[in-house]
Amino acid sequence: MRGLWRPLLAMCLNLLLPCSQSWIPGYSNGFHYQDINNGNGNGEIHFNGVRLLVESPQTSVMATRGSSVTLPCHYHYEPEPSTPRRTRVKWSWLPTHGAAEPASPEDVAQETEVMVTMGNRHRSYGGFRGRVRLRRAAPGDMSLVINELRLNDTGRYRCEVIDGLEDESVTVELELRGVVFPYSSHTGRYRFNFLEAQQACRAQDAALATFEQLFTAWEEGLDWCNAGWLADGTVQYPITAPREGCGGVDLAPGVRSYGQRHRLRHRYDAFCFSASIRGAVYFLKDPTRLNFTEAVRACASDGSQVATVGQLFTAWRLMGLDSCDAGWLADGSVRYPITKARPNCGPPEPGVRSFGFPPRFLKFGVYCYR
Ligand SMILES: *[C@@H]1O[C@H](CO)[C@@H](O)[C@H](O)[C@H]1NC(C)=O
Ligand SMILES: *[C@@H]1O[C@H](CO)[C@@H](O)[C@H](O)[C@H]1NC(C)=O
Repeated sequence: MRGLWRPLLAMCLNLLLPCSQSWIPGYSNGFHYQDINNGNGNGEIHFNGVRLLVESPQTSVMATRGSSVTLPCHYHYEPEPSTPRRTRVKWSWLPTHGAAEPASPEDVAQETEVMVTMGNRHRSYGGFRGRVRLRRAAPGDMSLVINELRLNDTGRYRCEVIDGLEDESVTVELELRGVVFPYSSHTGRYRFNFLEAQQACRAQDAALATFEQLFTAWEEGLDWCNAGWLADGTVQYPITAPREGCGGVDLAPGVRSYGQRHRLRHRYDAFCFSASIRGAVYFLKDPTRLNFTEAVRACASDGSQVATVGQLFTAWRLMGLDSCDAGWLADGSVRYPITKARPNCGPPEPGVRSFGFPPRFLKFGVYCYR
């Protein structure tokens, strides 16, 4: 389990209450709680003296965008039945919800079917069609292989084995290696409704971050005092150093939440998650004094494109890009990435420094992506 569950479990223990369904928005059946209570997520049921066991050696799998991943799931019977049993296997997906408060009913996450198999017949659904298969490396191996991983494939996958009226399941969490970054409009702070925030992240080669991604970023030190949309429609912000104006000094460090906001009427910034691993971001050495139009042209002449904000953050975070030169990015912002903080290169900690959105006639360098 990721750190996400720690506060949740702590809360349940503190209140000496069973961790009832109402604590976890979005999960509609009891299996999930079994996972939390016995820790290993392995289920078993009994019928006619035969036990069906569904197991996964991993409760969480980390992968990279664009790659393939295998989510392990196996089942067997104890004792082995003398005649083969007819089983169906269903894989479904739940976007990860971590907010401790229940989502409003219409926002409760729906389980989405990924793949259903019966014997040798199988069927995959929605955005998973053509990208998923079962590994079937051995009898009972129902591990799910997902190809060409997308940013929004992260979440909780449930492997459910159905034998007649009985069914048993395990869940496996899929996480992508990547980076969370706050993003605001070139017109100023708090200008995005939910849909615009989604589009803004997409334009930066990113997706709205999940709560779990923001929580991990907070654990790794992200401190940002402007509230932003997350993928589940909540608005939150991560604070590591409590201070006035950011929830106050009496509140412990943490991810502050405004809860669910109106997706069309309310306006905030966005927390985006990016993980572009293909290609490289580089600071164009020559020329280095360009207005925005010239910058776009300079990358094109170099056989590349102006980098997006998501690409710059990914290169900084995953590839250690470090450059003390301010450069244009595709959205018209000017930034530079620092992995080893040093004098004259911004604050004493690593980060992507931002000059905001300067007038486009001003001259800077440029970051290109190829
Ligand atoms: C996930 O992203 C793809 C594009 O990469 C998009 O087509 C799809 O609709 C998205 N799915 C969800 C559930 O947002
Ligand atoms: C950038 O400079 C070019 C001349 O090199 C000029 O034609 C163009 O209008 C300038 N663009 C901006 C946004 O000022």
